[in-house]
Amino acid sequence: MTDTFPAPEAMPIDLDIEAALDESREARAEALLEFARIPSVSALPEHAGDMHTAAEWIATRLRNLGATEVEVIDTPLHPIVYGKIHEAEGAPTALVYCHYDVQPVDPIELWETAPWEPFLRDGRFVGRGVADDKGQLVMHLSALEAMRTAGRTPPVNLTFVFEGEEEYGSESLYRWIDANEARLAADVAIISDTGFFEGNVPAITVGLRGIMYAQIDVELSPVDLHSGMYGGTVQNPANALATIIAALKGPDGRIRIPGFYDDVEPLTPADREALAALPFDDEAYREAIPVTKLVGEVGFTVLENKGSRPTLDVNGMWSGFTGDGAKTIIPAHAHAKLSTRLVAHQDPKKIFDGLERFVASVAPPGVTVTTTFIHGGDPSHTHTDHPATQAAARAIKAVYGLDPVYIREGGSIPVTAAFTSQLKLPVVLLGFSQPTCNAHAPNEWLELDNFERGTRVLVRLWDELATLQR
Ligand code: BES
Ligand code: ZN
Repeated sequence: MTDTFPAPEAMPIDLDIEAALDESREARAEALLEFARIPSVSALPEHAGDMHTAAEWIATRLRNLGATEVEVIDTPLHPIVYGKIHEAEGAPTALVYCHYDVQPVDPIELWETAPWEPFLRDGRFVGRGVADDKGQLVMHLSALEAMRTAGRTPPVNLTFVFEGEEEYGSESLYRWIDANEARLAADVAIISDTGFFEGNVPAITVGLRGIMYAQIDVELSPVDLHSGMYGGTVQNPANALATIIAALKGPDGRIRIPGFYDDVEPLTPADREALAALPFDDEAYREAIPVTKLVGEVGFTVLENKGSRPTLDVNGMWSGFTGDGAKTIIPAHAHAKLSTRLVAHQDPKKIFDGLERFVASVAPPGVTVTTTFIHGGDPSHTHTDHPATQAAARAIKAVYGLDPVYIREGGSIPVTAAFTSQLKLPVVLLGFSQPTCNAHAPNEWLELDNFERGTRVLVRLWDELATLQR
């Protein structure tokens, strides 16, 4: 391991478990590579079979680790993997969540190496899903495996739920939770799908934004029209779409959909102070992306805009002729996919209704405009001072020699809010990727050192959780 971090004050973990982890170093790395070779892209129908393969891959490992009730549960879309290790009578139960689905690999031409041929080189795993979220899932399995090898029994009861639709809105998991609350009974939920703070600062995430994802379709005619013959007499759907999109946001970065901010919980002075105290450098953040200038809702800092304010962004648009050269047409139709990131207490359905009404009200005449809901997830907040969060903080300190910082992330993990509001569980968002890990982008990576240390944090976490009052 590198010596980037100060030496921990306490012996990180049980010596036998440490020996088992040392012994299995190569095998654990190989396990991640093997898992990451399965192209489990939830959004693309052609990968449905791969989703099953990935789910079975996990289930096999859970069975080998002695988990009970291991099941690959079919859903309308992708399977959920469930399993339990309840061997610590009277001890708390932790519900462990990760996702095995990954984002599509486009634009493939920007990958320096093949996305489905992951590798470990110069201290980094590279490949689709190694950070988000397969590496973290493998860390949980590895922690458990090391315990078994060392002949130890996990000191807490563990219930595992691994889903295959996180990157697609988690619809099937929502429905499954509704019907299976009893199987998910626990004292705390541990979600490992987040990361560290800027640079490589160990962090616990205490806020995630929600999301509402929609599509706008603008239709003019059954086929493209000659732009000389028809131009000037019909509405151009691409121009119309641009008009609609331009109306959604002002130059001040504020979203103009009426009522959009009605339910937003304002940042308190204490929230703002806590964010301002984090070691965040706007300029370093800008350069690392890199972009020429940072923008955002006026009146808020970069860090506030990044995780604590709602946003609206077009995720893709297409229309008409996009090849080389020129083609004089009026496109038959135009489309955009867009999403809003939501903060407490915005409701995705209500936000969609507002968007749909607003789009209809600003749509130019002469085209048919429809707005369709694709998926949604609630924002979530957890508490820095909850005993489970503090247990995770101690586990981090024991392994990294540093107290974690508490951060709000701009991304979403849709199921988090269901764990809190429906299952009434305190949630600890404990993850080990880095902000610049190229999640969802070409050349995704995970630092080997964080894979190694993170696995040790998880081992330590079970010990820490075991000491909590039920
Ligand atoms: N791991 C991310 C969530 C995340 C992003 C955590 C950034 C911390 C920082 C997760 O896999 C993800 O990408 N979620 C999607 C959810 C969406 C498709 C419903 C997201 O945020 O885009
Ligand atoms: Zn993701």
